[in-house]
Amino acid sequence: MAEDKPNEAQDTNPPLTMHPQNTEFAAQYGESCVEYYDQIYRGIAPNLVNRLCELSAGERVLELGIGTGRIALPLAARGVDISGIEGSPSMVTRLRGKPGGPSLNVVQGNFADAEIEGPFSLIFVLVSTFFLLRSHDEQQRCFKTVAPLLSDSGLFVLENFEPLGAMPIADNGPLKRQLYLAEQVVETVNGPREYRVRLCYASTQQLDKMALSAGLRLRHRWSNWQRKPYTPGHLMHISEYAKA
Ligand SMILES: C[S@@+](CC[C@H](N)C(=O)[O-])C[C@H]1O[C@@H](n2cnc3c(N)ncnc32)[C@H](O)[C@@H]1O
Repeated sequence: MAEDKPNEAQDTNPPLTMHPQNTEFAAQYGESCVEYYDQIYRGIAPNLVNRLCELSAGERVLELGIGTGRIALPLAARGVDISGIEGSPSMVTRLRGKPGGPSLNVVQGNFADAEIEGPFSLIFVLVSTFFLLRSHDEQQRCFKTVAPLLSDSGLFVLENFEPLGAMPIADNGPLKRQLYLAEQVVETVNGPREYRVRLCYASTQQLDKMALSAGLRLRHRWSNWQRKPYTPGHLMHISEYAKA
């Protein structure tokens, strides 16, 4: 299991700020599974769309890693003014091909840099997409990028899962990452496909620390979208951060 310690080497790590490299990296996940992505995540968790509608408070909303629009399109259909950041051009093409897709505002790039104008009442990132960022440094940078984009009462909401069933990968490099490899075979209309994801896990304590150093504080932590309170041991958490 991952150590629950903050990354002490954080400030001395080489920064990951080379934009062309970062953009190329941000495309990798989506390009690798776009063909069958909609077959991996078929459903929508109960009350997820309702809750995001509620949190949007009728103002602008931003999704990090908008993908093929699994959640953004139902939100847009409910009248939410939603924009997205997406690293994979093929994911964007899929999204554009769906009803309502052409009119969504999608910026292509790495969401750790999120080059988009705020303010947003709600910025959210779902299904452990945050753990696709390569290191705690990059995750920290994402918090710092998001914080100034929030309106005064805005919220940054992350849905993350414990990497159960994923394999810890030894990483003794200077970044001291808590890396996991999740693998599964997905049955697609074109036959079975190997789905592989590399995750850089961060504990709830590490996330709270990253948030604080970006000027955000934890407002609530839930264990599902119906707002069941989170206690350690739950397999997922929905963390809501507000301006400190
Ligand atoms: C697990 S999918 C989630 C898609 C969508 N949010 C959903 O809930 O179905 C992650 C998405 O984030 C995109 N992505 C991953 N890392 C990214 C990054 N650093 N910057 C921008 N997009 C990224 C992937 O291409 C993919 O579309």
